[in-house]
Amino acid sequence: LALETVLVDGKPFKRDEYTNVTPNILSFIGTNNHNRIGHPLCLFKQRLIDFFYGHFKGRTGNPIFSIYDKINPVVTINENFDSLLVPKNHPSRNKTDSYYINKTYMLRAHATAHQSELIKMGLDNFVIFGDVYRRDEIDSTHYPVFHQADGVHIFTPNELELIHGSNINIFDPNQYISNEKQGVYSKEANEIVTNHLKNTLVSMIKQVFDEDIEYRWLTEYFPFTHPSFELEIYYNGQWIEALGCGVIQHEILKNSGAGNRIGWAFGLGLERLAMPFYSIPDIRIFWSNDSGFLNQFENIPKDGRIKYKPVSIYPQCINDISFWLPEEKPYCSNDFYELVREYGGHLVEQVKLIDEFQHPKTKNVSHCYRIVYRHLERTLNQEEVNEVHKLIETNATKILGIKIR
Ligand code: PHE
Repeated sequence: LALETVLVDGKPFKRDEYTNVTPNILSFIGTNNHNRIGHPLCLFKQRLIDFFYGHFKGRTGNPIFSIYDKINPVVTINENFDSLLVPKNHPSRNKTDSYYINKTYMLRAHATAHQSELIKMGLDNFVIFGDVYRRDEIDSTHYPVFHQADGVHIFTPNELELIHGSNINIFDPNQYISNEKQGVYSKEANEIVTNHLKNTLVSMIKQVFDEDIEYRWLTEYFPFTHPSFELEIYYNGQWIEALGCGVIQHEILKNSGAGNRIGWAFGLGLERLAMPFYSIPDIRIFWSNDSGFLNQFENIPKDGRIKYKPVSIYPQCINDISFWLPEEKPYCSNDFYELVREYGGHLVEQVKLIDEFQHPKTKNVSHCYRIVYRHLERTLNQEEVNEVHKLIETNATKILGIKIR
């Protein structure tokens, strides 16, 4: 049975040629750092919730946004991709980039995966918080599990009219398509929604960071919004990608029973923003159960601003690994990164491809990766690093079919 099924969150799923989830990845499900009282991701989540509750109020002063932070990360491929109009050949669908349970189910690669379902349920204003899973590189800002917030605001005709000042047509009888707008929507409606989106998100960032932050808007592309934008903020001397957003593709609203409406959506990475806000230098720290870490977030001051003090910076151990890529099997760097995660665990701070070489005669390709080891809470000794390094070599040979040089 174990060979034919994979247990995800206690439930059996049939394995097939798509299955690429690993025991290491599956072990993160249910941790829910964003819901753990006192965890910096939970504190940061609350800052975002406070903004939405305070900024959008109903007739009686009630919050109009609903918050969802307990939706299971197992989704259908339809929810994660098709329902959001992601083309069949889009690179994010690749097995090298996403975690598949089988050909029907996967671990959500973004919180946007729940957008259509929630709109179908009749919701107009909501923010989803959740853990998301992506196969990616290894460094101090990347981890295969991280957390996102995704928000949707769908306008009532009345709300649009209030902003516009008079009666307004949502739809464009001429179906005029441009870089600025979808064919279906009128220029006026699109402009109102785009401005509302940008103003709201800039207010959100300023309130959450409690600062008059410098920012800039860039044009982006997402299959599920048009027009689409990215907001960058200038913080601690560098530009940070803060979020992606746009006007929801009308087809998504139509398919979800809201075809007579217009609305916006955004998505952001919680770690991406919480790291600079709390001065947390390495994304692995969010997974630490060390009391020296969590205690620092216990008695938060009124402004919620805590500066994380590294318990101490322990030295790095650097080991390189060089190998010939397999000749028959396909190979991609993400497969190797995954394997390093599996066998190196939290000891690995960074993996970088530092050299690539093709043999002029045999045409065989060789890669050299630099693996930087560092323990977050103590000094590593060279022997234990060698042991882990050896384990990586052995398993890369066995599983990926590479040849150590
Ligand atoms: N899902 C996108 C991401 O993960 C972010 C996004 C959400 C962009 C909603 C636009 C609208 O990068």
